[in-house]
Amino acid sequence: MTKNLVLFGMMGVGKSTLAVVLAERLGRPVVDTDAEVERLAGRPIPTIFSEEGEPAFRLLERLAVTKVARHTQQVVSVGGGAVADDGNVIALRSSGVLVELRAPIEILAARLVPESESSNRPLLADSDPTARIAELTRIRAPRYAEVADFSVDATATPAEIADDVLAWAASVPGVLSAAELGRTATR
Ligand code: S3P
Repeated sequence: MTKNLVLFGMMGVGKSTLAVVLAERLGRPVVDTDAEVERLAGRPIPTIFSEEGEPAFRLLERLAVTKVARHTQQVVSVGGGAVADDGNVIALRSSGVLVELRAPIEILAARLVPESESSNRPLLADSDPTARIAELTRIRAPRYAEVADFSVDATATPAEIADDVLAWAASVPGVLSAAELGRTATR
């Protein structure tokens, strides 16, 4: 069996970008739980938050995580709050390994404060985004460290971060298939 590579970390840390790079390198599909939530709800995430509130979003996120975790050999990107839930972590672990992306608050803020980014993120909408990012990072850091099988410095280029993740994944039995191990070794 080959396991899902599950990418998690704060908003703006680059999970979606890295997921695409890893998926290309491994020949795996990418699955994004935020996209799955939007599909299930038939609405964008900001609309779910504004019409029904965060609890409704978290319920849909749980459904999306459960669905995604039924399959293996995917690259999975989950929203920044998904691993706060024990059930989500259990489901994701049953078929995958959890890879945390880490970056300093200043880098997250520089990526998220532009209106085009923060407007898609309801948790940043009603307050000073930089202060909110700092607060959420502080609150979540211990949980992220607790559930991570591997943590990677996400300040490098996506290709370099992918190298780090793949080197780690190749060292853990059962994460990559023999074909994937061959593919990552020949780069
Ligand atoms: C959230 C992060 C978002 C999205 C939702 C809540 C969070 O995903 O799931 O807005 O709680 O950190 P990204 O981390 O992909 O931005």
